[in-house]
Amino acid sequence: MWFKDSLIFYYLKPVKQNIEIFETAFVTADFRATDVALSKDRYAHLWPSEGTKIYRKAYVDSVSRHEQFAHCLRNRYFLEAIENLFNEQKIELLINFGCGFSMYPFLLPKTMAHIEIDMPHSINYKKEKIADWCASKKLPDRNISFLEADFTSNYEPQLLEKIASIKENKRSFIFLEGVLFFIGRPETERLFKLFSTIQGTDEYVGSVSFQKEIESRTAFKKLIQFTEERLVANEKFCYQTVEDRYYLNLDDYAMVDHQNTFTVANKYAPATILDPDEVLDEHFYVLKKK
Ligand SMILES: C[S@@+](CC[C@H](N)C(=O)[O-])C[C@H]1O[C@@H](n2cnc3c(N)ncnc32)[C@H](O)[C@@H]1O
Repeated sequence: MWFKDSLIFYYLKPVKQNIEIFETAFVTADFRATDVALSKDRYAHLWPSEGTKIYRKAYVDSVSRHEQFAHCLRNRYFLEAIENLFNEQKIELLINFGCGFSMYPFLLPKTMAHIEIDMPHSINYKKEKIADWCASKKLPDRNISFLEADFTSNYEPQLLEKIASIKENKRSFIFLEGVLFFIGRPETERLFKLFSTIQGTDEYVGSVSFQKEIESRTAFKKLIQFTEERLVANEKFCYQTVEDRYYLNLDDYAMVDHQNTFTVANKYAPATILDPDEVLDEHFYVLKKK
């Protein structure tokens, strides 16, 4: 209850000095709302409060002026990747781990099914807001199940049971976007083990992570400083970077696509001039279950 109150406080009031990990999801939504033509997220604007916008501006000024662009690109790349797989009849269900306030269910064809998973206070808040906005026709109706999980707890047995009962034999795309930075390697390994249990052959995983070489970039140093000053992280917070070989060495998955902020920028906004030292260059992976 304390967490939920804290979330509502953040949502309704001007920005606080500090935010918690789950509140970063409001900022991500606000980034996506800054360039809808690029992100294609026409509903992201529903989430940010005035406080979020102030925090977002402070973040952009202190960390990287390219962050809004980078987040719009990330949304666009995965939205198109997932939609293409759906149109090719390769997937029917999107399972979003650490979904935050992303709005993929409303941006994808209405016949797709969705499972949204996040920390209890965050997912329950999302569920309530989505129900209100669907009732008032701000959002179209979608087939969404909202599930609670904290990936640092012993969450697997209960979550697996719930997912299995919703998934049945639907082919899925499991998504892990903007989450790996916040959790450790043991939790990451447990997640990928769970994905393999959930999925059958030829189902997909999408994952986003930073590589270690980013630590030398000016923008990343500023991100860590900004994060340490402002983020009220849980006890286990210690940022994670992930190398290509982690994905390439997964026994149960083969890599079918690998992009990064620069390659995706080249595709969707080739005229944009980026200063590489100022870009928080994330890597985007699509994996297929063997
Ligand atoms: C930066 S937000 C990204 C949200 C969303 N995936 C997106 O890209 O818009 C990080 C998300 O990870 C979730 N998260 C972080 N640690 C988690 C944990 N231990 N268990 C469950 N969710 C977690 C947060 O609650 C938050 O929604």
